[in-house]
Amino acid sequence: MAQLDTLDIIVLAALLVGTVAYFTKGTYWAVYADPYGNSLGSANGAAKAGKSRNILEKMEETDKNCVVFYGSQTGTAEDYASRLAKEGHARFGLNTMVADLEEYDFDNLDSFPEDKLAVFVLATYGEGEPTDNAVEFYEFIGSEDVSFADGGSADDKPLSKLHYVAFGLGNNTYEHYNSMVRNVDKYLTKLGASRLGTAGEGDDGAGTMEEDFLAWKEPMWAAVSEKMGLEEREAMYEPTLEINERPELSVEDDTVYLGEPNKNHLEGNQKGPFNANNPFIAPIVESAELFTSNDRNCLHMEISIAGSNLSYTTGDHIAIWPNNAGKEVDRVFKVLGMEDRRHTVIAVRGLDPTAKVPFPSPTTYDAAVRYHIEINAAVSRQLVSVIAQFAPNEEIKAEMVKLGSDKDYFREHVTERNLNLAQLLEINGKGQTWDKIPFSFLFETMVKLQPRYYSISSSSLVQKDKIAITAIVESIEKPGAPYALKGVTTNYLLALKQKQHGAPEPDPHGLNYAITGPRNKYDGIHVPVHVRHSNFKLPSDPSKPIIMVGPGTGVAPFRGFVQERAAQAQAGQSVGKTVLFFGCRKRSEDFMYADEWKQYQEALGDNFKMHTAFSRDGPKKVYVQHKLEEFGEEVNKLLEQKAYFYVCGDAAHMAREVNTLLGKIISQYRNVSETKGEEIVKAMRASNQYQEDVWS
Ligand SMILES: Cc1cc2nc3c(=O)[nH]c(=O)nc-3n(C[C@H](O)[C@H](O)[C@H](O)COP(=O)(O)OP(=O)(O)OC[C@H]3O[C@@H](n4cnc5c(N)ncnc54)[C@H](O)[C@@H]3O)c2cc1C
Ligand SMILES: NC(=O)c1ccc[n+]([C@@H]2O[C@H](COP(=O)([O-])OP(=O)(O)OC[C@H]3O[C@@H](n4cnc5c(N)ncnc54)[C@H](OP(=O)(O)O)[C@@H]3O)[C@@H](O)[C@H]2O)c1
Ligand SMILES: Cc1cc2nc3c(=O)[nH]c(=O)nc-3n(C[C@H](O)[C@H](O)[C@H](O)COP(=O)(O)O)c2cc1C
Repeated sequence: MAQLDTLDIIVLAALLVGTVAYFTKGTYWAVYADPYGNSLGSANGAAKAGKSRNILEKMEETDKNCVVFYGSQTGTAEDYASRLAKEGHARFGLNTMVADLEEYDFDNLDSFPEDKLAVFVLATYGEGEPTDNAVEFYEFIGSEDVSFADGGSADDKPLSKLHYVAFGLGNNTYEHYNSMVRNVDKYLTKLGASRLGTAGEGDDGAGTMEEDFLAWKEPMWAAVSEKMGLEEREAMYEPTLEINERPELSVEDDTVYLGEPNKNHLEGNQKGPFNANNPFIAPIVESAELFTSNDRNCLHMEISIAGSNLSYTTGDHIAIWPNNAGKEVDRVFKVLGMEDRRHTVIAVRGLDPTAKVPFPSPTTYDAAVRYHIEINAAVSRQLVSVIAQFAPNEEIKAEMVKLGSDKDYFREHVTERNLNLAQLLEINGKGQTWDKIPFSFLFETMVKLQPRYYSISSSSLVQKDKIAITAIVESIEKPGAPYALKGVTTNYLLALKQKQHGAPEPDPHGLNYAITGPRNKYDGIHVPVHVRHSNFKLPSDPSKPIIMVGPGTGVAPFRGFVQERAAQAQAGQSVGKTVLFFGCRKRSEDFMYADEWKQYQEALGDNFKMHTAFSRDGPKKVYVQHKLEEFGEEVNKLLEQKAYFYVCGDAAHMAREVNTLLGKIISQYRNVSETKGEEIVKAMRASNQYQEDVWS
């Protein structure tokens, strides 16, 4: 393992304390309770703030015999949990509920009745870590000295009555693939619980998450039916939410939510603490396009958090809360034949005692769709097969059933064409409206619109109240796809940038965003945000050398890192070697912050080295890996001086390849085997000398 000096140990200890504190938020410090849950899919419910944390009591009270727990960060696992709960009820008559892992205690699992079922749907993050809401559960169930209410140690198999089902969500490009479901399954088995069916694993990296889920669940249901003596019945849609139109109210009434995320926002006095459940409506103080080429736009924005009590440190993430493009919102109402009712006020109520109303109400159909539902996302094959029952006629129904049951046909006609639900319904409806789809069905089955994370590209030392982001505007044209895929958040940000630069009605690509927000509350160029702290951190001692690898938007946090070290050097501090490997397509096209690096160079002198890889400037592709190889000797030397090594950007290919290459560089220059080189890289990761901030 890499040797660390005392200062590093202090820094790591502080990081550890910070991490524990972060992951245990809600336990050790107050968190603004989320009144609407993470996802619309959670309509089946979970404990509300102040209610019992006893899951057995809750199931008993509400007459449930199946609980589907989820560990989810960005809503996918929660959506799958909700789908399993609905399917279990519709097809097998199970009385199901969905439960957020963070809302319950687990020391009474040893009394979980034998004739009931627990389902675990778990996503993995970081270095094989749980999602924020699963941290406590994971620590409890994996603890060496776990103990349950009725006493007894692990050797006594305290969970021998518990029957469970497990599915994991992961990405094979990460080193610790699906380790949450693998570990939880191992712990539960060790404690005597019996799994029904196999522990499923969905792979985002291979792009097969949905198909992995569908393939896993059929044999799982067979095993569950056999064990619990269930009979399959014809699946019927049974709403868990009730929508009542309220003609006595109108959008003029100040009690009606028009997209405001909660009551304080509705009443016009946003109040902290601002966090994942309560965004700060932040002014955008500056915005620019770093480059614009062939329809590719790269945005730089400066967002003020002054006066919000929000804080960040260099390397953190900011979450941007988007709203949907007007063009796609219009499509939803057109396809449902509801254009004339879209501004009708509705009250939404849970029909089941465990049901959660997924957004503030009363609201309007329009506000719910625009601000709360992920209407642009890819459509799942399962949703298509379920929605077939509401088709306008038998011919269209048959086509939807075919799409839902034939995975190759679905891939060719839906996935490959990047269709969202409304686009699919529009195309397959052939001019007919889908007015038989109950609105409650859409609210219950579609995922909640999620905030998107961005690596902060400024230094908190240099500008503590202003957060910079660097974002590529997503616009994907695919041969055969009827529409270009326009990223929700990045195109919204582009519209905000255009507005700030004087466009009276900014409307990139005719997307028509509601950029002034509900009741014009975001006017003056504001955007809802919150900050998420990360462990991607500079060494606390600036004299330590660092190596950064960040092609494309992966350079974002490194602008912050270099900005910080340049300021430290200017303040007379001793700053160590600062080496940046940056890659982009062409020097003249997408070389981000080309002029700024020169200023940092002046401040840092010879201590700053930038190695650039322009992939499309010459006859052969040149990537950051080529540059790492070329300067392998220097890289190894710095690592031997305990340089910190950072990678940011594309998780799927670049980050993996850099990891492998570093092992080879170490092997070559330290004259050790490649296996030893890999082990050294692993040890660097374990000691935080190697840090990643990657996404795909
Ligand atoms: C920790 C972290 C840090 C990040 N940092 C940065 C950063 O610094 N800069 C940056 O630019 N990005 C960053 N990202 C990525 C960023 O969060 C967003 O994912 C990205 O900007 C796209 O968001 P969007 O809302 O514009 O696109 P979305 O609408 O979310 O679309 C994103 C992708 O989803 C898929 N998709 C969407 N709809 C469909 C459909 N109908 N059919 C098929 N596929 C579909 C496509 O692949 C599309 O490209 C980061 C992500 C993470 C997790
Ligand atoms: N999941 C993925 O596979 C993946 C990969 C990259 C980007 N993206 C997404 O695409 C969007 C735009 O990204 P961006 O602007 O950051 O990147 P970008 O401009 O597409 O890429 C930056 C540079 O990285 C190069 N590159 C491509 N593959 C690489 C690899 N395996 N190893 C090292 N370098 C490689 C590119 O070269 P060439 O393009 O000339 O090959 C380019 O020079 C982002 O939303 C990002 O998430 C996804
Ligand atoms: C920042 C980040 C880190 C991740 N780390 C891992 C990991 O270590 N192992 C893994 O198998 N999957 C990893 N994943 C993939 C997620 O588990 C996967 O995308 C999952 O669908 C997310 O589910 P959620 O939307 O419910 O949070 C990671 C994804 C992100 C964005």
